[in-house]
Amino acid sequence: MKIRYVLVAGTAMIVAIAVAAALRSVKADDPSNRARIPAAAQKEIKSVEREIDRIEAETLNQARSATSDRFQQIILLGKLIFYDQQLSVNRNESCSFCHMPETGFSGPVSTLNQTTVAYPGSVRTRFNARNPQSHTYASFAPVLHYNAEQGDLVGGQFWDMRATGLRLDSALAEQAQGPPVDPAEMGLSDPACMVYRMSQRPYRSMAERLWGAQAFAIHWPANAKEVCDRPGMAPDGDPMPLRLADVDRGIAQTTFDQIAEAIAAFEGSPAVNPFSAKYDYVIAGKAAFTAEEQAGYDLFRSKTTHCNECHRDGGPGEEPLFTDFTASNLGLPPNPALPFYKENTPDQFGFTANPAGLKFIDQGVGGFLAGPQNPNREWAAMAKSFIGKYKTPTLRDVDKRPRPEFVKAYMHNGYLKSLKEVVHFYNTRDALPTCKPGDRGEKVTCWPAPENPETINRKQLGDLKLSDKQEDQLVAFLKTLTDGYSPPGK
Ligand code: HEC
Ligand code: HEC
Repeated sequence: MKIRYVLVAGTAMIVAIAVAAALRSVKADDPSNRARIPAAAQKEIKSVEREIDRIEAETLNQARSATSDRFQQIILLGKLIFYDQQLSVNRNESCSFCHMPETGFSGPVSTLNQTTVAYPGSVRTRFNARNPQSHTYASFAPVLHYNAEQGDLVGGQFWDMRATGLRLDSALAEQAQGPPVDPAEMGLSDPACMVYRMSQRPYRSMAERLWGAQAFAIHWPANAKEVCDRPGMAPDGDPMPLRLADVDRGIAQTTFDQIAEAIAAFEGSPAVNPFSAKYDYVIAGKAAFTAEEQAGYDLFRSKTTHCNECHRDGGPGEEPLFTDFTASNLGLPPNPALPFYKENTPDQFGFTANPAGLKFIDQGVGGFLAGPQNPNREWAAMAKSFIGKYKTPTLRDVDKRPRPEFVKAYMHNGYLKSLKEVVHFYNTRDALPTCKPGDRGEKVTCWPAPENPETINRKQLGDLKLSDKQEDQLVAFLKTLTDGYSPPGK
């Protein structure tokens, strides 16, 4: 056995994967076994791409007549970057490809949510291992730290907290540096390629006004275009194939940091985090819950369900963000539908996303703490107790969807497909018998075994003894957390 550390700054990473040496020598690329986009998703993907281009064009127009307010300009610039498909290796994938507003900035393709859960990268045959998270209200997550009073890790970005924020003093900005160079996401081969591509965009002058003329004053090597058009291969290939002089490398890194900070400014802006759900109007006394929603809210706050112990609805001096930014292991089964399990042979560029294949186990925060990305040695001692734990997501916009029949995927691996399934899982995980994935009754009368049994939370969830009606009441309450509510009389 050989231990391999997946080091890319992206989604699949940081899990120390034990790989049988035999697996590495697999050469034959059996195309029938490759990860693929389901045919039914193609049309939806095309329409998402068109919508992204429309928003980009609209934002460019806005930027041309921009206000003089510097902060507003940074937000606009961040938005232009967030929606710019040209910043990916094949010029077909922006951040928003996996985070669109109509779903609360989570995955916008119903067919993918229903099937692969993970979204293809700019190289369309590469998929990462997890469900695109909603990033609404993510700007409130603190830099990852150990809270001695709680005895727990708090903050960071990603399901496994690995974007700590320690370097840029912002977890959100640090997160934004992952996808551009993740081979299975935007797929650039070098962080400087993000700067190179941006230097050719119409909003370059806006960035120069904000950051100074040096931002793109880099001597690019003659082969820059060619290197940046080649899909990234980290951790297998050279993580910085662009040959830049030291000073130019320094400028490129500073500009890459500023790009990340502009994206974070957009993600933290009021348009992305409006606090305009029915819940907010009810709390402000400007709307009223229905009887069912109220019953759901009472349950949500009760000792029966414990929901608001993790998905906190506020406290003194605390915004109701419906998360406490700590991590837990809910005991979810693995999701065999993730294409990641099939990505154990080299693709046409020689990149293997998941050498472990079917043996891959997602260890969540524990995988990050045990791996080379963990910046704090003391935390490494906690790795074992964090195996299978994932960061508690906000519940704001958890039901936001463009049309009622649109399917959303829930949890880090998208195993659950509706809020009813989520609540039923919390309610009955331990009360119902264990079955195999695909068995009759799965998700209704039985649940498959958990992926990481050791650290499961059995104190607060698993056998809540709720009736079917009470489950529905909780779902009704969760639906009041969708932004964009119009209060009565407006
Ligand atoms: C191919 C799909 C894809 C693309 C493109 C993508 N993301 Fe993500 N995003 C994900 C997935 C999947 C996760 C969860 C990854 C994990 O936990 O390992 C995620 C997580 C996040 C989070 C963490 C939210 C939280 O609460 O912790 C933020 C913020 C985010 N993405 C912003 C961005 C930005 C900014 C970009 C562009 C620079 C981007 N994403 C590009 C799929 C994508
Ligand atoms: C012990 C802390 C804890 C408690 C108690 C808890 N949750 Fe969660 N919740 C989490 C964590 C952690 C996740 C993500 C787990 C994962 O992806 O593996 C999550 C995920 C969710 C999601 C999916 C969100 C998404 O974007 O995918 C919903 C919905 C949810 N919880 C609702 C509830 C409700 C309703 C209750 C009460 C019945 C509840 N939670 C109780 C910690 C908790």
